[in-house]
Amino acid sequence: MSEQSKKDQFDLAFKNKQSPYEAAKSLTKLLCGEVFERLSSTIKDHPRVLEIGCGDGAVIKDIPNKLFKNCDYLGIDLSTNAIGLAIKNNPSFNFQNVDILNFESSRQFDIIIDSHCLHFLTEALERKRYFSKVSDLLKDEGLYVVETMLLPKKAGDVELMSFDFQSNCFVKDGRKVIFLDEARHFEEIFSEYDLEIQYFYCPLGAKFICESHRSESLISDPDVLRAIVKKKSGT
Ligand SMILES: C[S@@+](CC[C@H](N)C(=O)[O-])C[C@H]1O[C@@H](n2cnc3c(N)ncnc32)[C@H](O)[C@@H]1O
Repeated sequence: MSEQSKKDQFDLAFKNKQSPYEAAKSLTKLLCGEVFERLSSTIKDHPRVLEIGCGDGAVIKDIPNKLFKNCDYLGIDLSTNAIGLAIKNNPSFNFQNVDILNFESSRQFDIIIDSHCLHFLTEALERKRYFSKVSDLLKDEGLYVVETMLLPKKAGDVELMSFDFQSNCFVKDGRKVIFLDEARHFEEIFSEYDLEIQYFYCPLGAKFICESHRSESLISDPDVLRAIVKKKSGT
């Protein structure tokens, strides 16, 4: 999908509803639980936090202040409307309307969060650029925390989107909209970018319902991956 049509799609979603996406409670739980409890010695006070695809700011709104004590937070999103809502919902945090693939920063981050953005990068080159950015933007020993969609065992069409087995993408109106990868590929990608796995969780039966009009999951809905990886020092 071209960058402009992807932006239009998300702008429309955020224009029509006050908050089109349920706050990713599972990722908030992961951040408050695993990240905070298991890795609290690694997380400094006042960490620099980047959230990729922050949408309307639902994740940072839900994270108790004590988790990232006085964090220096920046949320970025492709959609202008999403960023407008994020600023309104979270006036004390910083937001920027930019595509992660074009994002530049002279300073690195202690923590990078991605809640449901990565799977919208439907082209292999985009994902390569994304991981190279994540790796460059993370400080040594910095954490990347992601919740994303995985290819289910019985991949196939869902109600309104067809599944293209060649590209592993859901296709809507002739456009690739969501990419689904296998868990083992994430392990390979993390290792390729010197990101050491701290936590890798893809529980059997945990499904994304990838169409907002449904409340019940289908067997062909994507599985869930939650991962925390640490950038190796000196890389
Ligand atoms: C499903 S929403 C998730 C929003 C939020 N992270 C949450 O969990 O509530 C995906 C978000 O990713 C954003 N997005 C998609 N591709 C992006 C890109 N290349 N760069 C930055 N943001 C992107 C969309 O605009 C949208 O706000």
